[in-house]
Amino acid sequence: MKCFVLRVFVASAVSTSIGIIGGTGDQGRGLAYRFATAGLEVLIGSRSAERASEVAREFALPNLRGSDNVSVAKECAIAIIAVPWAGHEATLKGLEPFLRGKIVIDCVNPLGFDEKGAYPLKVAEGSACEQAQALLPESTVVGAFHNVSSVVLLNPEVAEIAIDVLVLGDERTATDQVQTLAELLPGVRGIYGGRLRNAGQIEAFTANLISINRRYKAHSSLRITL
Ligand SMILES: NC(=O)c1ccc[n+]([C@@H]2O[C@H](COP(=O)([O-])OP(=O)(O)OC[C@H]3O[C@@H](n4cnc5c(N)ncnc54)[C@H](OP(=O)(O)O)[C@@H]3O)[C@@H](O)[C@H]2O)c1
Repeated sequence: MKCFVLRVFVASAVSTSIGIIGGTGDQGRGLAYRFATAGLEVLIGSRSAERASEVAREFALPNLRGSDNVSVAKECAIAIIAVPWAGHEATLKGLEPFLRGKIVIDCVNPLGFDEKGAYPLKVAEGSACEQAQALLPESTVVGAFHNVSSVVLLNPEVAEIAIDVLVLGDERTATDQVQTLAELLPGVRGIYGGRLRNAGQIEAFTANLISINRRYKAHSSLRITL
C-alpha cells in the first residue's frame, strides 16, 4: 500500500512543471539541471527573459526552457525561489498574484559574509521561509534544498548525490509532495524537518556548512540517521 501511494506521488511529480525564480544562478541552474534530467518540465526564470533563454539553451534539454520570472510564476505548477536574500522580499511581493494556490519551495539562506566567513542574518519574520509565507498568504510555502551544494548539483559526474534534503512546512500534503520531488534527484532522501517556524536553524546552518567547505575543501551537506 505504502509503495502504491509513493508511486502515485512520483507519477504526479513527474508530470509537474517546476518554475525556478532566479533560476539563472548556480543554485537555480543546479536544481533545473537535476529536475530536467529526472524528466520534469522545468522553467528557468530571470528578471530578463533573454538571459533565462540563454541559460536554458546551454543545457540543451528539450524539457528545460527559460522565461521572465513573472511568466514562469504564472505557468509553473510548483515554484522554487532561488534568488539572493537581498532580492527575496521584493521578488515575492511582485510575484504574489501569480503564485496563489501553488506550492512555493523556498531555499533562500539569509547569510552575511565578512572576513571571518559566513554568518546568519537576523530576519524579522524568523526565517526566509516565514517571510515568504507572510508575503504569499494564498500559497503554501515549503522550505527545502537549503543545504544542497550547487557545485554538486551542477556536476554531471556526480551520479549519486547521496544526501538528505530537509523539507519544512505547515501542510503535510505539501511537505510530502516536496519530499517526493527531492527524491527524484539521484541518491537524495527527502526528510521532514519540522514546521516553518523551525526553518531559521536550517537556513542558518548553511553558514556552518560553508565553514566546513572552506576548512576541508569540500561540498558538504547533511545525512540524518533514522
Ligand atoms: N549556491 C548554492 O550552492 C546554494 C545552496 C543552497 C541554497 N542557496 C540559496 O539559493 C539562492 C540562490 O543562490 P545562488 O548562488 O544561485 O545566487 P545568485 O547566483 O547570486 O542569484 C541567483 C539569481 O537571482 C537573480 N538575482 C540576483 N539579484 C537579484 C535581486 N536583487 N532580485 C531578484 N533577483 C535577483 C539573478 O538572476 P537574473 O539576473 O537572471 O534575474 C541570479 O542569477 C540564495 O538565496 C542562496 O542562499 C544557494
